This record gives sequence, C-alpha cells and structure tokens, in this order.
Amino acid sequence: MVDVHLRGIVKRFGRTIALRGIDLDVEDGEFVVLLGPSGCGKTTTLRIIAGLEKPTKGKVIFGNRDVTYLPPRERNISMVFQSYAVWPHMKVYDNIAFPLKIKKVPKEEIDRKVKWAAELLQISDLLDRYPHQLSGGQRQRVAVARAIVVEPQVLLMDEPLSNLDALLRVKMRSELKKLQRRIKVTTIYVTHDQVEAMTMGDRIAVMRNGKIMQIGTPTEIYHKPANIFVAGFIGSPQMNFIDVTVSEEADGLTLVSEDFKIKLPPDIAEIVKQYMGKTLVMGIRPEHIYPEGFVPSNVKRTARINGVVDFVEALGSDTIIHLNTGSRIIVVKASGTYNTNIGEELTIELDLDKIHIFRKDTEEAIL
Ligand SMILES: Nc1ncnc2c1ncn2[C@@H]1O[C@H](COP(=O)(O)OP(=O)(O)OP(=O)(O)O)[C@@H](O)[C@H]1O
Ligand SMILES: [Mg+2]
Repeated sequence: MVDVHLRGIVKRFGRTIALRGIDLDVEDGEFVVLLGPSGCGKTTTLRIIAGLEKPTKGKVIFGNRDVTYLPPRERNISMVFQSYAVWPHMKVYDNIAFPLKIKKVPKEEIDRKVKWAAELLQISDLLDRYPHQLSGGQRQRVAVARAIVVEPQVLLMDEPLSNLDALLRVKMRSELKKLQRRIKVTTIYVTHDQVEAMTMGDRIAVMRNGKIMQIGTPTEIYHKPANIFVAGFIGSPQMNFIDVTVSEEADGLTLVSEDFKIKLPPDIAEIVKQYMGKTLVMGIRPEHIYPEGFVPSNVKRTARINGVVDFVEALGSDTIIHLNTGSRIIVVKASGTYNTNIGEELTIELDLDKIHIFRKDTEEAIL
C-alpha cells in the first residue's frame, strides 16, 4: 500500500485543456472519490495516476517515488473500468488468474490467490462459468476480483457501477466499500453520482472544468460547501440559491431579497456586515426548511417566509413542495406525512443555523 500525491497536474489534448492544475493527496489505505459532471477531467486524472496518460505538467508521486514517467506495469496499480472488461472466451477462473499468469506467478500461488479474490467477491461458485453465463453484477465482480488479485498498491476505479441497475448498484456500492476496508488498498474512485460519492468516499474531491473545487469528507462537503458549485452539486433536491442584499434596517442587519427580508441574528450579522449594500447569494437546502408548525424541537431559530404552493411531489418518504414566494420558487423537503395542495397559502420556516452565504462575484462561501 502507498500514499498517492498529484502535484500541479496540467493536461492538454491539443487545444483542449482537460486538467488545469490538480493537487491531490490520498493517504495510505484511503478511499477518495473524484466527483464531477461529465467532461470535468475525472477519467483523465485517473489515467494519469495509472500511467496510461502523461501529464503536460506536474508530478505523480507514490510514497516518495516520482512515478510520473513510469509505465503502468511498473506502478503496481489495478484499474476497473465502467464497461466490465472481462474476456468472453475465458472462464471466470482464468479471467481472474490472467494478470498473475502474465507475471509468471507459480501455479499453486495463482490458485490460492484466485480463490482468495473469488471468496472476497462472493463468486467462488462461478469460477467455472463463462462471462456470458453471468449477470452484469457478477461480471463486474469478476472484473474487481481480477483487479485485486495482484494485490495492487493502488486501486483505480472509473464508474465501475454505472452499467448496473439501480438496486444492484446500491448493493455493490456497500460491498465494494466493505471490500476496500478489508484489504485496505489505497483507492481512487471516479463517479458522477453524488450518492455513490457520499456513501463510499472517506473523502470526496469535487471537480469542475479541470479543477478541484473542494476536497473534504462527505460531511464537510455537505455542511460546509466552499462555493456555489459544490453546494449545488451535492444534495437532492438541490440547494435553493437566492440573491440578497445586505441592508441596515431599524431593527438590525437584514438580508433583503425581492420577495422577503430576513433579520439576521448577531453572529451572522457580524460575518456579513462587511458586505453592506452588496449583493450576496443565500443558500438553503430544501431539508432545512419546514412548513410553519412543523419545525423540529432541535431547531433553535428560524426565519419565516410566505408563499403559495406551486407544485407538490409526494414521494412517499418525503413531500417536496415548490413554494412561489412572488418572484421565485423555493423548494422545501417536508416529511412524507405532510399534506398540502397546489394554490394553498403556506408559511415556511428556514433554519437560520443552516443557511449558507456566498459572494456573488467569486461564488465562494463566506458562511
Ligand atoms: N484523448 C483525448 N483527446 C482529446 N480530448 C480529450 C481526450 N480525452 C479527454 N479529452 C477531453 O478532456 C476533457 C476531460 O475528459 P475526461 O474523460 O477526463 O472527463 P470525465 O470527467 O471523465 O467525463 P465523463 O463523466 O463524461 O466520463 C473533456 O473535455 C474531453 O473531451
Ligand atoms: Mg470519464
């Protein structure tokens, strides 16, 4: 096992700049997820760590060894791809054994290791089958078994679950995570699925347009997003973003939007007072807003806003309310037992301890 470091990685493909300076430190045994929208540079980052691609600038370091220009086979890494690249003409056993055969590992050792990997992935009873006799999930397990059988220093996975149906994906995601915990291999995992990232990653690096926008634990990324992009990318339904101006009113510092005013408690006022007269962006997640009278007892202070129900999504476990406050819609995630109808007047309460405030120009969080 080994720790992995990227230092100032830039990657150009002709005129396209795929990566614009990536710095990343992955600890020994850590599970780090690269998360971001299509085209942001996740696969390119992974391929550079694997050695399948050379960076235009920057360094890749394993432990204290500079591996930037080492070919993949000298890096002791394994990679699992989105399309389960198992060889159709080989039985499961031979698929898993293949990387060991190439390394000329003695036969008995191969046998021992194949059985070890198959057991970890719970495919011991499938070793005699051909890939076409397997389900998608089983095939992907074979691909993972083949990746870990060589006991790599670093395991790289690029959207390994995206070809599986929703139920199987949920199952495999906890299994992969448990497997990684057991064998403690340093893992870098690419996905554009935020739930996958939140449930699997020890830490998540959120990427956009060739840059890392924030690195942190799932809790940090959710509760303390560093900017509007990360705040909007994590969470479903998405965080509400509302333009507000900081204004000094008779009863204290206030955030003024087109539709409502929020009087700020002293601690928040202290932080935003330097932006007096400026426009900021207030963010509040739908799950931190409650219909009036339904505020949990642990929520200490709220701000009230009036509106008219524009749309209701009854999801069973939750009721998603779209509230028209005059010039905009605020989305509220209420309990599934909450009932309301389109056209009803509704007062909502925002948990003031859960509001985020961003600069409008740089989009960076100030609260
Ligand atoms: N071989 C290549 N030649 C030219 N451009 C490339 C090449 N590989 C990637 N790119 C470009 O680099 C950028 C990053 O691509 P990359 O495949 O890393 O994105 P990604 O985050 O993995 O996206 P996705 O979620 O769609 O897989 C994209 O703009 C892509 O078009
Ligand atoms: Mg990709």
